Amino acid sequence: MKKTLVLALSLALGSTMVFAGPPAAHKGGIEGKGYVWNAQEGEKSEALKLKGDAKRGEEAYEVCGACHLPSGAGRPDGTFPQLAGQHTTVLIKQMADIRAGLRDNPTMYPFAMTLTDPQELADASAYIERLCIPVDHGKYEGADAAMQIAKGKELYEKQCKECHGANGEGNKEKFYPVIAGQHYKYLLRQMNEIRDGHRRNANPDMVKVIKPYTNDQLVAISAYQSSLKMPGSMCKPKVGGKKK
Ligand code: HEC
Ligand code: HEC
Repeated sequence: MKKTLVLALSLALGSTMVFAGPPAAHKGGIEGKGYVWNAQEGEKSEALKLKGDAKRGEEAYEVCGACHLPSGAGRPDGTFPQLAGQHTTVLIKQMADIRAGLRDNPTMYPFAMTLTDPQELADASAYIERLCIPVDHGKYEGADAAMQIAKGKELYEKQCKECHGANGEGNKEKFYPVIAGQHYKYLLRQMNEIRDGHRRNANPDMVKVIKPYTNDQLVAISAYQSSLKMPGSMCKPKVGGKKK
């Protein structure tokens, strides 16, 4: 398969030798003038109008599994986010932003570029959205977990719930991501990047909310988020050991 070959080559040679690098940092983003969060234009707006084919998407996703794993679970150390069950709208927006240089992701950029057109963006997203959310993701593991989660819950219910939902289910129409099942360490990194203006495609209303947070509050809010479960969307825990 062509994409598998591309992946093997780039892992062997280092991606920069096979691919052109990401586009220079875009002028846009929350610090830029005239940037409209989630403007409906380009391949993003095209992909959003298309019906994704999950079967074709499974093939397009093959190259992604190297980092995000075939299950979509990512890694508990937070390097690669959990993707399974994410809204197609969020997936399409994030991938289009990465491809356009509005969200910096040099590690993934060459692989994001293996999706050939808006139809493949829609297909891969349809496939990922249908995967169940794994239950064994990375959580906050400090001895003070109960206290951190309680502190985080108070903040979350006051300032985040209206957008991300009581169970971290987000909002498909409004491009608000699913949070449930995400790794604690990835969440904490995103909290920092969004607060500090490094995730340039972030929603400005969310940036306003999180701007005054202290580092301790970011830990608490991430601990709480990683404890959320979305009824009906989580994978069934395996029972009774190995299958024959
Ligand atoms: C070489 C590793 C790698 C590969 C291959 C890869 N990604 Fe990623 N991806 C990442 C990293 C790292 C991040 C998180 C970047 C950050 O911290 O902002 C990410 C983030 C994402 C996000 C944003 C998630 C979120 O919650 O906002 C989406 C969506 C995504 N990847 C989809 C894909 C798809 C689809 C493919 C295949 C076409 C793919 N990735 C291939 C490394 C990879
Ligand atoms: C006005 C609605 C809104 C509010 C309020 C809000 N968010 Fe968000 N949040 C968003 C949107 C939209 C995104 C996706 C931004 C983008 O386009 O990259 C997002 C992204 C995130 C992400 C990154 C998810 C990922 O997969 O990478 C996390 C984590 C998050 N929000 C947590 C929070 C927390 C915690 C709060 C409260 C302190 C909060 N949000 C408040 C709308 C909101």
